[in-house]
Amino acid sequence: MNKNQAADHYTIHDADEIFSPGLLIFKELVEHNLKAMIQMAGGPHRLCPHCKTHKTREIIRIEKAMGIMSHKCATVAEAEMLATEGIPEILLAYQMVGPNLKRMVELVKTFPDTQFTTLIDHPTAAGQLGRLMKLADQEIAVLIDLNPGMDRTGIEPGPNAMELLEMVMGLEGLQLQGLHWYDGQNRHADLQQRRLAVDNGWNRFTLFRDQVLMNGIPIQRIVAAGSGSFPILAEKGEPQLQLSPGTTVLFDSELAEIFPEMPFIPAIGILTRVVSRNRWNEVTLDVGHKSCAADQPAGNRLRFPQFPNAKEINQTEEHLVISDPAVNELNLGDAIVALPRHACPTTAVHQFADVISNHERVAQWKIAARDRMLTI
Ligand SMILES: Cc1ncc(COP(=O)(O)O)c(C=O)c1O
Repeated sequence: MNKNQAADHYTIHDADEIFSPGLLIFKELVEHNLKAMIQMAGGPHRLCPHCKTHKTREIIRIEKAMGIMSHKCATVAEAEMLATEGIPEILLAYQMVGPNLKRMVELVKTFPDTQFTTLIDHPTAAGQLGRLMKLADQEIAVLIDLNPGMDRTGIEPGPNAMELLEMVMGLEGLQLQGLHWYDGQNRHADLQQRRLAVDNGWNRFTLFRDQVLMNGIPIQRIVAAGSGSFPILAEKGEPQLQLSPGTTVLFDSELAEIFPEMPFIPAIGILTRVVSRNRWNEVTLDVGHKSCAADQPAGNRLRFPQFPNAKEINQTEEHLVISDPAVNELNLGDAIVALPRHACPTTAVHQFADVISNHERVAQWKIAARDRMLTI
């Protein structure tokens, strides 16, 4: 627990009215995080925030009102949500294969005023997407996804990537826009070490970028960074660069602990209630692993601002036992706020979020792109 998870951020006066286990979004904290992101990036035009963290229309509207017009997403449903919110520039940062190829064509046809961009890291994918786009008499912008050492997706910056760039330049149906660099592996708690890793990667990136330019291939746009590298790449002053953190919008208790130097505050919680209390120093809450991210190890999935020393003893699908002498003050039915260690998979398991403003519930927002398919 650190200062960014102070209990007074998460006091709710009308918690008795709120369903549990229920997702909570703290509106002022979201706004605080977005303002800090804009300031760190050097303006809203330098951001392309990833919406996978919240998947929520109302947050897109807040971002848009703050001037953020470029958004990143990972699924066709998220892209459709962004397009129907009138976002002019949408990067679907996922290589389209199988039936998603046709869905991408459908998106482009359905929203002719939206500039869609997607990622390519292989000639086969480029050929398939280009062919379908051309058949539909459409065109889509493409960023070449480079592997920054994360070894998840992306082509190694080098001769094969250069060939892929040249191929995409020559393909009808595709319009080469630039390069993509998601160095999500750079999450070191030690800022010096993180800076070193981000800078080393960025030196490899710029070396390759310079070769691309020397070969006469234009680069209009570079999209790079996750939460860990965001503040470091923001300082680079690269004119074409847009920064694409996602988790910083809602932040979470894991990032608050590994990046204590960052100005963001966890803006997402889960309201949970005591459903059983028959043992000394222990209570059982209704926040099982079906209502919070379970990709973190058992015993380390939540923080309790009101009970900073509580230990997670045993979590099953709908129950969590916590232990701490301080919980003896709790009664059956009492509601407390838990902060998930990982925001993104937590929003994805909730249908809606209760929105807290000035310590009161003011609205309910649907987690709209939690569904894998909207209409396309
Ligand atoms: C391609 C891509 N870009 C950006 C992000 C946002 O990164 P972060 O969650 O570290 O903010 C992610 C996260 O998974 C991602 O996969």
